[in-house]
Amino acid sequence: MKKFFVLLSTSFLVGAVTAQQVAIIPEPAEMIMPRIAAKYIIQPSTKIFVADNSTAKTVNYLNKYLKQQYGFSCTVQKGMGNGIQLKKNGKAKAPAGNYQLVVNAKGIQIEGADTGLFYGIQTLIQLLPTKAENKQLAIPYINIKDYPRFGYRGLHLDVARHFFDLDFVKKYIDYLALHKFNYFHWHLTDDQGWRIEIKKYPRLTSVGGYRNGTIIGSYPGTGNDGIRTGGFYTQEQVKEVVKYAADRFITVIPEIEMPGHASAAIAAYPELSCFPEEPTIRYYPKGSTWHGDSTGKQVIQSWAVYDDVFAPTDRTFKFLEDVIDEILPLFPSKYIHIGGDECPKSNWKRSAFCQNLIKEKGLKDEHGLQSYFIQRMEQYINGKGRSIIGWDEILEGGLAPNAIVMSWRGEEGGIEAAKQNHQVIMTPGGYVYLDHKQSKKEDSLTIGGYTPLEKIYGYEPIPAALPEDKASYILGAQANLWTEYIQYPEKVEYMIFPRVGALSEVLWSPKKKRDWNNFSQKVPAYFDRLHQWGAHYSKAFLEEKSEAAPAPTSSGK
Ligand code: ACM
Repeated sequence: MKKFFVLLSTSFLVGAVTAQQVAIIPEPAEMIMPRIAAKYIIQPSTKIFVADNSTAKTVNYLNKYLKQQYGFSCTVQKGMGNGIQLKKNGKAKAPAGNYQLVVNAKGIQIEGADTGLFYGIQTLIQLLPTKAENKQLAIPYINIKDYPRFGYRGLHLDVARHFFDLDFVKKYIDYLALHKFNYFHWHLTDDQGWRIEIKKYPRLTSVGGYRNGTIIGSYPGTGNDGIRTGGFYTQEQVKEVVKYAADRFITVIPEIEMPGHASAAIAAYPELSCFPEEPTIRYYPKGSTWHGDSTGKQVIQSWAVYDDVFAPTDRTFKFLEDVIDEILPLFPSKYIHIGGDECPKSNWKRSAFCQNLIKEKGLKDEHGLQSYFIQRMEQYINGKGRSIIGWDEILEGGLAPNAIVMSWRGEEGGIEAAKQNHQVIMTPGGYVYLDHKQSKKEDSLTIGGYTPLEKIYGYEPIPAALPEDKASYILGAQANLWTEYIQYPEKVEYMIFPRVGALSEVLWSPKKKRDWNNFSQKVPAYFDRLHQWGAHYSKAFLEEKSEAAPAPTSSGK
């Protein structure tokens, strides 16, 4: 009898799938593999069953994915049956995005509200083999209950330092969807380019959308490439991106920078500067080489923080309100990002207008003026039913009443804002800036910093120093990708992968499920998956053992 049992259990193990072979990133909250390992096969004859048309977005997404990756799609049928069954819950249970996925002899049953069903499909995608044999996709029997830990799971892309075309922006959004992120922060304006069409101010893109050259190599550079570069998105293209994202349950947050990082706008409309007559070259950093016309206001060609910022005049506010009036109908997002970081005060200090304004409004100093600037714009945006997000400098001189703070200079800004009962999105540079190198042997140019995979994996968005009763002010976290040294899509992918996978687990998986050992065992399968998706990625994880602490708690920039 005993011998029979051993034999039997051995035979069941043949072809068995172990939890380790199932490599879902982010790790689901609960996942049970049945003791008897077996597989269900998706093939061209498999049907997708739905109750009605309300799940069409998600079903179309799955079919498009199957077609792209495996060369076939499945027929969609109303009703119940053996196959892929999507069961939509009428009323979403908290937390938003939860779903259940069961694979058994009857097929695949996914249950959830709208967003949950979509996330269930994302998990199903990661259960599919990376290669199909004869259009047969074997999926292990499994039982998953899953839900996100944080409501804000963000990824940012700077398209100002280098412009990325519409197709790549969509691809980037696809990467977000595949990792269950739900916010795309689109950094659209900066000193080196203005990237969104504003019909009332056409020079923003015709002039501000292009620069005459770019420094070569690390700042301040070894010369200038002398190549005119740039680009922008028309409002029609922006609508396309916003819809593309919405179809993937992703909200696009536009960032329109103010009062600093404004050189491209000032190049287009010099009257927005405190000193319209001063040429841009006056503000240019030592050591960086300029190319082309150096008279008047110009779009910047190097990577620094520039003194020529928006003048806080009624004319500037009218301009910014007009811009916001064109932005709001394009972006249904509740949140509008207005920057607020790295605004030098030197021009405001030497401007008689600014000094008078400080006196007139009873402000303490130029930091008070920055606060006045942000609060005035916040009021305008609040009046239109939206909320602002700003980088943590908006704390200086007093926080605007409803502002959400993005904490980038370490965790301190986030801690301070949460203590003041403001909502916070954590993006501390030392953990989630993906422009940092991820290998000590990195041979391509990066901005500096060293953030290997285990460091981002060990990041905890709720700061240890935050009083417990303030933890709910932390909405989540976001990784930022600044593109000074990232000129083309392949490098974007190389910089974000595999670190985006690690962050997705930080943001989605229950804290107790976060386990570096388990994650690192999934990395080889994750690389296969990235390869399947045609994404470039860094192999530093395989090539070197980093010395980063696995679970850092202190903040860092
Ligand atoms: C930032 O990295 N300047 C927000």
